[in-house]
Amino acid sequence: MPLKHVPLRSGLRLKIRVPEGVHPIDCRAAAEARRLRIRPGEKVLDLGCGCGLFGLAAAKLGASRVVLTDFSPEAVRCAEKNIQLNRLKEKVSCRRGDFFAPCRGERFDLIIANLPQTPGPAPFNLERWGGPDGTRHYERLAREAPAYLRPGGRLLFVLIGLADNGRVKGLLGERFQMRCVFRLQRDFTPADYDGMLPGLFDYLDGLRRQGVSEFFRFKNHRGRFWFYHRLFEARLSS
Ligand SMILES: C[S@@+](CC[C@H](N)C(=O)[O-])C[C@H]1O[C@@H](n2cnc3c(N)ncnc32)[C@H](O)[C@@H]1O
Repeated sequence: MPLKHVPLRSGLRLKIRVPEGVHPIDCRAAAEARRLRIRPGEKVLDLGCGCGLFGLAAAKLGASRVVLTDFSPEAVRCAEKNIQLNRLKEKVSCRRGDFFAPCRGERFDLIIANLPQTPGPAPFNLERWGGPDGTRHYERLAREAPAYLRPGGRLLFVLIGLADNGRVKGLLGERFQMRCVFRLQRDFTPADYDGMLPGLFDYLDGLRRQGVSEFFRFKNHRGRFWFYHRLFEARLSS
């Protein structure tokens, strides 16, 4: 399991190890981690933390207290090792459990969430599957997050073009003011998705034709497609 050095800002960096079975990190995740804007002293929750990249970045960038949570035992074990690797034990703790269950009664200034959101007709990989239109976890986030945020608190979340962005904006728009703070292009081949679940690319293509998913074909690269991978900030309305 190779050690990755993830540069943040102002010379700060993280050391991260991600074993098999935990959501991998790539250059997009590292670029997003660099974009985190943390006010000194903020209390932060990284919901569905995987290896802990975002929460650990928040701790390095000025948060006073960070809680990492995930329902996968492998992810929690991995995140705990990454806390130690970065000597952040005093600021960062990791808990296992479903969604907000490990944080009952607590409130945060910022909740960071890169939740499973690939649409699929049936569950295929719980790290990625977001329900039939990709919004399953965002429904929960919109309903439950306000009770875990301090007044004026923020959500920072990843939203990919494959998920029903209109529905997510509708769900969160009732309580939050949203803006896109960063966006990247992510390219793929049909085989990438059919490898997760046979026939998944055709399912996604059907969603695209219905206007639910948004992705595009590269003009000069046969068989390659891309979608937007966006980072949104959503501020709790008073
Ligand atoms: C797309 S991965 C992102 C991981 C990490 N945040 C990152 O950006 O690398 C989604 C993560 O959410 C976790 N997860 C899925 N459903 C969950 C739930 N109901 N409660 C807590 N964590 C969950 C998965 O185990 C996985 O680690």
